[in-house]
Amino acid sequence: MMLRELQVLHADQAVAQLPEALVHAAADGRAFVIHTCQRLVVVSCGRESRDVLSPLLEAATEVHEGPRAYAFLLRLACGLESRLPGETEVLGQLKQCWVAFEASRSLLAQQLRPFMQSLFRDVKDVRSRFLSGLGSASYGSLVRRLLDAPGAPGPVLLIGAGQLAESVAPWLRGSELWIANRSEQRAQQLAGRLRQRNPDRPVRVIESGAEAELAAWRAARDVVVCVPGDAALDVARAQAWRAPRAQRGQLIHLGIDDSGDASDWAGAPAMLNLSALYALLRQHDELRRAQLARAERACTERSLLRALGHSDSEPHGWEDLVGIHSLVS
Ligand SMILES: NC(=O)c1ccc[n+]([C@@H]2O[C@H](COP(=O)([O-])OP(=O)(O)OC[C@H]3O[C@@H](n4cnc5c(N)ncnc54)[C@H](OP(=O)(O)O)[C@@H]3O)[C@@H](O)[C@H]2O)c1
Repeated sequence: MMLRELQVLHADQAVAQLPEALVHAAADGRAFVIHTCQRLVVVSCGRESRDVLSPLLEAATEVHEGPRAYAFLLRLACGLESRLPGETEVLGQLKQCWVAFEASRSLLAQQLRPFMQSLFRDVKDVRSRFLSGLGSASYGSLVRRLLDAPGAPGPVLLIGAGQLAESVAPWLRGSELWIANRSEQRAQQLAGRLRQRNPDRPVRVIESGAEAELAAWRAARDVVVCVPGDAALDVARAQAWRAPRAQRGQLIHLGIDDSGDASDWAGAPAMLNLSALYALLRQHDELRRAQLARAERACTERSLLRALGHSDSEPHGWEDLVGIHSLVS
């Protein structure tokens, strides 16, 4: 496949439910779908497939083709399209999606393989040259900066045991870590991995059920929430967090932002949600912005090189050069 045939449809917003036809197209290996909590991306190739897929993605805000599509995927994988610029979670999500799609052995999977291999190499290169030492480029490192001083007394309560909780947990530094999750078994598994990593760190799993979780909310110094908002439980959680305690730290809720109904959490002391976190980040220093801008430029340059034949298996064509012209102009 030539780079000019690569296509990316992008919905730059949370899409809760995938259209059924798109689920089928992904299952049949006709579309490579990357679905995260912040966006939906559909990778395909050839005009025909775009004609079939675009009506399925009504929410698509952008369509990229050729070198522009590659540059977009590279920016995405480097975390440069994320609301937390430069974050690394998205690369893990992309890799997971690709491994599952590649296993389908569909024609599209075979066509995309050389591009994905180049992409993962380019991500490594851009990250190591332009994004290393970026600071607070993961939710975990950002959360650590916002919580009280290390060694402060009192446990940190982590709500959730999914992907975000897994990446945040190692960064939490209270005297003790408590984990509460809807599925206690998943919390036990996460606790097991954390104990393996750091045997000296006390990690306790809160038994499942609202009562035990709320008791933990009342006793914790800091709380970090890595689950979506819960209409049934959030009022009780906010009330438990308002209860007086020996040492009150920070409540960081990564599952909600300002776009939803915040009334459940009205008056919750020392609370930051995702929007507040992103706002703090925007105030970050010039150095970080300059680093991100250099990484963005590197993504464009990489896609130009790929279009010029630096793909390991494909030569470039005149159409790619037209794509390059549109990228630089
Ligand atoms: N991943 C990211 O990079 C990222 C970035 C910013 C914000 N977020 C937000 O963080 C939250 C978790 O994301 P994730 O990526 O960790 O997802 P995930 O891997 O799917 O894990 C979801 C977590 O939420 C819990 N959960 C889901 N629905 C629930 C419900 N109705 N009641 C109680 N618990 C429920 C799950 O519990 P079980 O284990 O019992 O299923 C699990 O702990 C989401 O709101 C997401 O929008 C994620």
